[in-house]
Amino acid sequence: MSKLIMSRILVMAFLASFPSALVNSVAKADNSQSEESGRTDFVTYCAACHGVEGKGDGTIAEFLTITATDLTQLSKKNAGIFPRERAIGVIDGREEVKVHGPRDMPVWGDWFEFEEGSSINGKGAEEKVVRERINALVDYIETIQEK
Ligand code: HEC
Repeated sequence: MSKLIMSRILVMAFLASFPSALVNSVAKADNSQSEESGRTDFVTYCAACHGVEGKGDGTIAEFLTITATDLTQLSKKNAGIFPRERAIGVIDGREEVKVHGPRDMPVWGDWFEFEEGSSINGKGAEEKVVRERINALVDYIETIQEK
């Protein structure tokens, strides 16, 4: 089996484990703005590839065709300034991470939108909640930057 197909299967298996995450997020929908939300979402959705500490050493990272970025080095690689807009773009899918080839970094804007849409929140609140969750995630990633 090719490494690419293998990684796709793993990602799908990973996504299939989401129902419990869904329950968690609905349960905490009231305080989605809390500081906890960034870290909780990170551990739930990002750690498999990027690692719990964000160092790019998640459990399925070795099966990816492209190395999951060490998220603690973003500021360092950007002349000491945290690239906030780029991070938001990569996560919600507006920013292309790789010009050629498959995209290994999932598009989270779509997923969070789907998740919020199927929760108790009204349609109108969706976009706002998705933004808040992505902002909380990026706030969290900013806190793990190495100097
Ligand atoms: C299936 C594995 C996987 C998961 C899950 C994942 N990522 Fe990624 N991520 C990657 C890969 C691979 C890259 C490298 C970019 C590429 O595709 O070229 C990346 C790149 C990134 C980057 C870009 C860093 C840069 O170069 O500026 C950010 C930011 C990021 N991920 C954040 C997240 C966040 C936040 C989550 C959780 C919501 C997440 N990732 C979940 C695989 C993953």
